[in-house]
Amino acid sequence: MDQLIQDIIAKLEAEGQNPKTHFEGMLFSKPMNYWDYIQTEALLNLQTQRTNLPDELIFIMYHQINELLFKMILWEIEQVAFNKNLKANFFSSRLDRISRYFDLLSGSFKIMGDGMEVAQYMKFRNTLAPASGFQSAQYRMIEFGSTELINLIDFRFRSSINRNTPFKHAFEHLYWQAAGKNHETGEKSTLINLFEEKYMDTFIRFMKDYNTKNLWTTYKNLPDTEKNNLNLVNSMRHYDHTVNVLWVMEHFNAAAKYLESGKKSAEATGGSDWKKYMHPKYQKRVFFPELWTEEELKTWGEQNLENHKILTKLEGILI
Ligand code: HEM
Repeated sequence: MDQLIQDIIAKLEAEGQNPKTHFEGMLFSKPMNYWDYIQTEALLNLQTQRTNLPDELIFIMYHQINELLFKMILWEIEQVAFNKNLKANFFSSRLDRISRYFDLLSGSFKIMGDGMEVAQYMKFRNTLAPASGFQSAQYRMIEFGSTELINLIDFRFRSSINRNTPFKHAFEHLYWQAAGKNHETGEKSTLINLFEEKYMDTFIRFMKDYNTKNLWTTYKNLPDTEKNNLNLVNSMRHYDHTVNVLWVMEHFNAAAKYLESGKKSAEATGGSDWKKYMHPKYQKRVFFPELWTEEELKTWGEQNLENHKILTKLEGILI
């Protein structure tokens, strides 16, 4: 105890604090409660429905759960990106954490697909337009934090963009701009205009911060001994496949269930040409392209919900 007290005094003095004041304060401090620490009351008061339909609560809360997990994912990405002495074991253990979160999200997406009454969803969704999960800023930050910008650029424009392209220009050619534009006029939709008004500055700053620190560049900059670590390569492949195929497929299936439930296909609340836009076989989003074989890349998104293959040796992939 004596040593502990001395250490506390030394710490407070080093911070220019008076230890006596702190010790006296401790005499009056309240005991810690679960509800204060976890902020349960605040958390449970964040659900505001726009209709009286009971299933709308499921929709709101499941999105909130997603956003919490997105925050946990970004937390791990940051720890890899800003680690000054990165080793394969640390990298792969953090990727495995991220994959567990994304596995949870893919595995639970049926809460959206099967867990709400179609008739209720088709009613409350009309009160949400033009909002869409498309406007999840954290989802976009996960993408910027995971890979190089070139892998997020719409295929049609990739040859015109390189590392010297200004961030704003690259931003205008990200794959998801396609969902926010009228195909004929090229005009941006309200969905994307509002999104950019709110987050454009944050995104450009984040793109700059992660330009050389995203997971893919970080991996490529590792020494060969670390880079060729089989566990690490498998962790990266697992993450890539879970986010860009499994999650995207579950999301697509849920959207298809509702939007195709009527006689005529319904429009997405965000207004995208959703069927073409959302299917992974069209977008072929891949965070770590060189960790897949040519064949795997060719059939990306067509493997449906099969699990990705775990490598037993580093042969056949493109690194
Ligand atoms: C019934 C459930 C859902 C349906 C029907 C649905 C539908 C859609 C549609 C049609 C789009 C395309 C953009 C648009 O025009 O709106 C979209 C995009 C998106 N949604 Fe959902 N969604 C659902 C649940 C979720 C959930 C739970 C999340 C989690 C946060 C989410 C996140 C996203 C994201 C990140 C995008 C953009 C993805 C991309 O650009 O490829 N969605 N959604």
